[in-house]
Amino acid sequence: MLLEGKVAVITGAGSGIGAAIARLFAAEGANVLLGDLTESGAALAAELVATGHAAAFQPVDVTDEAAVAALMEAAVNRFDRLDILVANAGIPERKSPIHELDLADWRHVIDVDLTGVAICNKFAAGAMLATGGGAIVNMASILAHVGQENSNAYSAAKAAVVNLTRSVALTYARQGIRANCVSPGYVDTSLLAKLPEATRQMMLLRQPIGRLARPEEIAEVVAFLASDRASIITGACINADGGYTAI
Ligand SMILES: NC(=O)c1ccc[n+]([C@@H]2O[C@H](COP(=O)([O-])OP(=O)(O)OC[C@H]3O[C@@H](n4cnc5c(N)ncnc54)[C@H](O)[C@@H]3O)[C@@H](O)[C@H]2O)c1
Repeated sequence: MLLEGKVAVITGAGSGIGAAIARLFAAEGANVLLGDLTESGAALAAELVATGHAAAFQPVDVTDEAAVAALMEAAVNRFDRLDILVANAGIPERKSPIHELDLADWRHVIDVDLTGVAICNKFAAGAMLATGGGAIVNMASILAHVGQENSNAYSAAKAAVVNLTRSVALTYARQGIRANCVSPGYVDTSLLAKLPEATRQMMLLRQPIGRLARPEEIAEVVAFLASDRASIITGACINADGGYTAI
């Protein structure tokens, strides 16, 4: 199996892409510790345990240093090591023209989507150094690479995640830690379900493949990058977007 015996922490694992990653990682033989702000991750962890996988849930707010440190510690205490971090937790922004920017929303989105990723990388890298290395996969977005009208904090945070990932990759390149990111296009999750129907139709029109991605398709890319099969890949960002950024 692709991730046989690996120990993985996945943030935002309670729903959408994170839940698909947790399911695939468990199916590929990984021991998974699911972190999420909501208790939804607890039900998924219980389901995975009931089907014979090594899984657990711990609540975490990725913007809280102590909670993130405790999450990585819990993985090491429970499974003896940490091999993989998937920093997936993220939130959408309140879109607006920048002259109407809501600074409180800007700060919250930057806090979760950028600072939260940095905090997770900080404590995961510390734990991985102790056991000779590991793989970090950060969740970016197509909006890291292309502009979009009325997108502010989300685009800024995701673009910063891409370059943060490159720096993390270079910092630990000789210490066995690889760091990469994945940039999904439009994926059919609750994050998109909350949008108005007209916006969803506009998204479909912009998708070269004519459909939204499924969370499971993004999970496959994450699993590959997290696995030893991607041993030569570090500092990279894979666009998993149905051709969106190829235009
Ligand atoms: N859905 C898309 O089209 C799409 C496209 C590009 C990138 N992404 C990115 O993929 C990631 C997952 O998105 P999704 O579509 O699965 O969304 P989702 O809303 O279904 O899942 C996000 C999860 O993150 C959790 N979360 C939110 N804030 C948190 C915090 N402070 N600490 C811990 N957990 C927190 C939520 O509780 C939720 O379970 C996000 O980083 C998102 O920006 C999504």
